[in-house]
Amino acid sequence: MGITGDMNEIDLDTGILDKYEDKVVRKASNMRGFYGDEEALEKLIKSGDPIIYEVYAVPREGEGELSYGVTILHPGTVGGEFYMTKGHYHEKRDRAEIYIGIRGEGLLLMQNGDEVKWEEMKRGTIVYVPPFWAHRSINTGDEDFVFLAIYPGDAGHDYGTIAEKGFAKIVIKEGNGYAIIDNPRYR
Ligand SMILES: [Fe+2]
Repeated sequence: MGITGDMNEIDLDTGILDKYEDKVVRKASNMRGFYGDEEALEKLIKSGDPIIYEVYAVPREGEGELSYGVTILHPGTVGGEFYMTKGHYHEKRDRAEIYIGIRGEGLLLMQNGDEVKWEEMKRGTIVYVPPFWAHRSINTGDEDFVFLAIYPGDAGHDYGTIAEKGFAKIVIKEGNGYAIIDNPRYR
């Protein structure tokens, strides 16, 4: 057996992944509908439309394969809610996922039906997202929150369910920390 080329390198201090094949950038203007304070979001969009998060991925979409990607979630708030990812269920609901914290600090919020749970994440944290649980990450710190995610290649992403219903809880800035409260817009 020789060298296959089936390898990448991640800088474990910065989270920068070489030879990624897919890059997704979500700016404030891509997050319409996800924050309670729509006015605050529009103000942010007008003031330069900053990047909320970036994903660098190596997709392997076949059944039985694994995909992986690094997410860089920048720090900030919109009307008191922290910068966060859109969040998704897997299209194939029974597909699980592993998250590994690289730098910064945040939360991984998970939801299955109306049931919600969360884990705090920082460098070295490993969180298991079981089958059937939607997941969203939230930057509760004041620097980038960076993590690696590994998931079944055929999982697929269903963003629509969360876009429509939201999560049952939202995460807001409170003093130097955070509070997890009921989402008044949850349907
Ligand atoms: Fe996922």
